[in-house]
Amino acid sequence: MRTARRYVAIGSALSVTLNIIDGASGPDGRNVKTPDRVKAHVERLREEIRRHEHLYYVLDQPEITDAEFDALMKELKELEAEHPELATPDSPTRRVGGKPREGFVKVKHSSPMLSLDNALNEGELRDFDRRVADLLANEPYRYVAELKLDGLSLAVHYRDGVLEQAITRGDGEVGEEVTENARTIHSLPLRVEDRLPGFEVRGEALMNKRAFARLNEEREAQELSRFANPRNAAAGALRALEPWVTASRKLDYQPYFLLVDGRMHLDSQWESLDALQKMGFHVNRNRKLCGGIEDVLEFCQQWESRRDTLAYEIDGVVVKVDSVAQQARLGWTAKAPRWAIAFKFPARQEETDVENIEVQVGRTGALTPVAHLSPVSIGGVTVTRATLHNEDEIKRLGLHIGDRVLVERSGDVIPKVVRVVKEGQHRREFHMPSRCPVCGGDVVREPGEVAWRCINTNCPARLKESVRHFASRGVMDIDGMGDVLVDQLVDRGLVKNVADVYELRVEDLEGLERMGEKSAKKVWTNIQSSRQRPLPRVLNGLGIPFVGERTAQILAETFGSLDEIAGADAERLQEAEEVGPKVADSILHFFHERHNRELVERLRAAGLVFRHDIKPKTGGKLAGLTFVLTGTLPAMTREEAAEKIEAAGGKVTGSVSKKTNYVVAGAEAGSKLAKAEKLGIPVLDEAGLLDMLK
Ligand code: IVH
Repeated sequence: MRTARRYVAIGSALSVTLNIIDGASGPDGRNVKTPDRVKAHVERLREEIRRHEHLYYVLDQPEITDAEFDALMKELKELEAEHPELATPDSPTRRVGGKPREGFVKVKHSSPMLSLDNALNEGELRDFDRRVADLLANEPYRYVAELKLDGLSLAVHYRDGVLEQAITRGDGEVGEEVTENARTIHSLPLRVEDRLPGFEVRGEALMNKRAFARLNEEREAQELSRFANPRNAAAGALRALEPWVTASRKLDYQPYFLLVDGRMHLDSQWESLDALQKMGFHVNRNRKLCGGIEDVLEFCQQWESRRDTLAYEIDGVVVKVDSVAQQARLGWTAKAPRWAIAFKFPARQEETDVENIEVQVGRTGALTPVAHLSPVSIGGVTVTRATLHNEDEIKRLGLHIGDRVLVERSGDVIPKVVRVVKEGQHRREFHMPSRCPVCGGDVVREPGEVAWRCINTNCPARLKESVRHFASRGVMDIDGMGDVLVDQLVDRGLVKNVADVYELRVEDLEGLERMGEKSAKKVWTNIQSSRQRPLPRVLNGLGIPFVGERTAQILAETFGSLDEIAGADAERLQEAEEVGPKVADSILHFFHERHNRELVERLRAAGLVFRHDIKPKTGGKLAGLTFVLTGTLPAMTREEAAEKIEAAGGKVTGSVSKKTNYVVAGAEAGSKLAKAEKLGIPVLDEAGLLDMLK
C-alpha cells in the first residue's frame, strides 16, 4: 500500500465539485446552506470518505490521490466544527482525536477467547484430522484453511451497525477496552450497513512489515529502542494510552469470526468470512475451502514457502472445520476447540557459534556490537552476522565469544541472537572498546543512554555512515553510490562532508576501484540529478539527530523552507506536529554549530532544494496520466514508484481499466498485466517509467 502522507490538508477540485452539487444556489448565485442541506451534505461526505477508506485500506485500490482524500476530510472536519450538533460517533473524523487516558477498563468477553492447539508437522496435522473423522463418525466434513496472522486478537462489538467497543483478548475471559485506539485502524469500519442489531467480530490486529520497518527506523533516529517484531509493535500500539500513538503506527485489522451473543452467527466458517468481506471488513484473501486434509496440507506447504512474499507476518495456518453444527458436536477442551488447529511453521531459528564480536560505528557515532557467526542456513538464507544492539544486551544474554547461540531471522528484520544455548569451551568475555575502533578517538556513554559513542565528529566511520545515509534510496537517492564507493571517497579524502559530493568530478571517480569511465559518468550524472530532490529528503540527509523521514516531512510541510526551520526558536519549532522539546533542541543545536551552518550554505550553493511547495502539483511531466503498478520492480518498491509518479503530477490507481494510460510491470506481474495486454494498454518496465520521469 502507498504510504498515506496526511499531515497537511489541501484544497482540491473534488471538494469543489461536491460543494456545487450539494449547496443550494441563492438568487445571487452564492451557496446558501439550509440546515437540512448541510446535514445531507455531511452525510454524503461521510459516505464518500468511507468508500475511499475501504478502497484504499481494504481493497488496496485507491481511486483518488491522498491530497484529494485530505480535502474531503478537511471539509468534513470543518463542517462538524461549525455544526457540532451533526457530530456522530461513526463519523470518519472520529478515527483520531480520542483523548489520552489513564488506564484501561477491564471487560468480560461475550464468550471466552480461547487459544488453539498446535500441530508442528504433517504427522500432527494428520492426527488432528483422524480425531475429527472419528468424532464425526465418518460423516463428510470440510475444512477452511486460513493464514495464521501474527498479530493480536481483538474483539470488536457493533451495535445498530456502529462500532461500539473493542476489547483485547486479555486472559481470554476478561480483556481491556481499547475502543478509542481501535477506531484509528482504517481498515476497521466505524459503521457497517447490516440488518443485524448487534454483532461481534473477532480477528487479528497487526502491523505490516513495511510500517514496522519505518517505525523502527524512526525510533532509531530518535534513539528509542527498536521493537523486536511487528507483533510487539502492534501490541504496544493497541495498548497505548494516547490514541494518536496507535494512529501513527498504521495497524490493520483482519477478522476471522462473526458472532452474535458470543456464538457463531452463520452456519459455516466459509460463509462467515464471505459475509464479513461483504460488510466491508478486510478479510484475508488467502483462504481455501478444503475437501480434505490433503488440500489443507497443500495450502500449508504453499504458504510456508511463500510467506516472505506477504506484506505482513504469518506464523502458520489455522485449520477449522467449516460446518458450525459439526463444530458444536466436536466441542471444546478446557483451553481450545477440538474443531480447529494451528499448523505452526517451523521457527526460523537455528543454532550456531559466535566466532567473534565486532564493533561498528554508526552515523551518530553510536558503537554497535555485531556477532560474527559460523555460517548457518535459516529458512533458506545464509546468515553470518547478527546484531547485538548494545553492551547491555550482551550482558542480558550473558554472551561470550565462542558460545553456541540460537539465532532468529524473522521476515525483514536483521537476524538477532535469542539466547546462549551452550557456553563455549574456550569462551572469551567481550568488552566494549575504550576508544573508537575506527579513529581511536574517545568514546563516552552519557547517563541514561544505552549506547557508547565516538565523539569525534570527523571520525571516518561516522562520516562514511553519514554519506551513505545521504546517498541512500529513501534520502537523496544517488544510484551507484554504494558502500564500496563511499569507503574510497572518504578514505582518499575526496569527501570530508556531504557537500563535497557535489564537487566531485568525473575524473575523481574514474580513478577509483571498480569504476570504469562509463560507471563514473553514470554516478556523476546521478549526483547531478539528486540536486532536485525535495526538501524533506534534503532535511533528512543532513543527519540531524531525531529528524528522520517522517519528522523531516512534517517540518518541511509546516515551515515551507529550510531557512524558516533553521531560523525558528524552540517554541516555534514545537508548533509542528509531533515535534517536542527533545527534537526542537536537537534542531536548534544543529543549526547553532558553525560547521553545520557552513555545510548548509555549501549545499545551497550546490543548488539543492531549500523550499517546499505546500500546494499540490497541477502541472508536472505526468499530469493527466493514470498509472497502475504491478509485480516487483527491480530497484524500487511500488510505494516509491507511486511517490515519483505523483510528484510528477501523475495518478496511481489499483486496477486496470480503459482509463489507465500505462501499466508499470515488474517481476511476477499477474492479472493486471494480462488485463493491460487485453485492453492494449502500453506496458512499461521500471526503466521505461524512469525515462518518462526524466
Ligand atoms: S481462530 C479459539 N484464525 O492465533 C481461537 N486465530 O492460537 C480461535 N490467529 O489467539 C482463533 N490468525 O490471535 C484464528 N485466521 C485465524 C488466526 C488466528 C491468527 C491467532 C489468534 C489466536 C491465536 C490462536
